[in-house]
Amino acid sequence: MRLKVLMTGGNGMLADALYPLLCQNGYNVYMTDINGIDNKVIFKMDIRDKKEIDRIAIKFKPNIIMHLAAETNVDKCELSPDHAYNTNAKGTENMALIAKMMGATLVYISTGAVFDGEKSEPYLESDEPNPISVYGKSKFEGEKIVTSLTNNYFIFRAGWMIGGYEKDKKFVEKIVELAKIKNEIHVVTDKFGSPTFTKDFSKNILTVISTKNYGLFHMVNEGCCSRFDIAKKIIEYLERKDVVIKPVTSDAFPLPAPRGRSEMLINRKLNLLGLNNMRPWQDALKEYILGIKGKNG
Ligand SMILES: NC(=O)c1ccc[n+]([C@@H]2O[C@H](COP(=O)([O-])OP(=O)(O)OC[C@H]3O[C@@H](n4cnc5c(N)ncnc54)[C@H](OP(=O)(O)O)[C@@H]3O)[C@@H](O)[C@H]2O)c1
Repeated sequence: MRLKVLMTGGNGMLADALYPLLCQNGYNVYMTDINGIDNKVIFKMDIRDKKEIDRIAIKFKPNIIMHLAAETNVDKCELSPDHAYNTNAKGTENMALIAKMMGATLVYISTGAVFDGEKSEPYLESDEPNPISVYGKSKFEGEKIVTSLTNNYFIFRAGWMIGGYEKDKKFVEKIVELAKIKNEIHVVTDKFGSPTFTKDFSKNILTVISTKNYGLFHMVNEGCCSRFDIAKKIIEYLERKDVVIKPVTSDAFPLPAPRGRSEMLINRKLNLLGLNNMRPWQDALKEYILGIKGKNG
């Protein structure tokens, strides 16, 4: 039987890698986003609109709900907390309720921003969340809703996402774009995290869900680094010897949302289960940057 997947956030960075992989693996995917695209690939569905979700899900009858949609702009979340909670918490509640009603497995993507960043070692699944930003708080609310409303769930906490090509709105894209116009780029040395390549993350989602080993997992590429380390590697892989990455501290870039010192994660549960197929972040980043170079000719 072809398993049916109802996906939210289909126009985002992660869906760009996950959707083709699901199709290649024989899943029947109904992909949705707040901005449906009238090409019959991405259908319109607002995760805040329970009636719309129920109508679509009852008609499609998914076996699995992959809930990727979120307000991922952390500064926008900080400035508009009601919007953040409506999307990231209430929207997740709507998806959890329909998953429960349909008896579908729920896959929820969370984040290292659920931690306060004070720990010097990478965070484990057993560490207590204590989010400091509105984004982190709203995503943690989403986690609590998923665990309280459903049994057959997977929560995957990702780190700093790499991927998406033209869908990328995050750090890698910013550095790649800055390198086109600047010879000197200032990057912070005092924020640490775990890069997470959407291609590796998507592959491992499929591996883990097939085990039916439900629960919460950290799932990041191996190794931790600073923003500065990533920027240096991007420039190296772009072979841009003319661009210098200059170290600065985060005081140089005041932003609306607080960022913890660390969002470093370790895949302890995947390791224990022998399901950790996440390669070192440098290898993943290199493949992605070479892909960008290929696309740009
Ligand atoms: N990107 C990261 O670094 C990162 C790290 C850790 C975890 N995550 C989590 O991973 C998941 C996927 O992230 P991503 O990077 O693919 O994010 P993304 O590129 O921002 O994609 C999210 C998609 O959801 C859509 N969306 C927003 N509000 C919606 C609503 N009310 N109804 C339906 N769709 C809505 C967005 O549309 P608009 O763009 O029009 O708002 C966007 O197309 C999210 O749950 C995120 O919290 C991301």
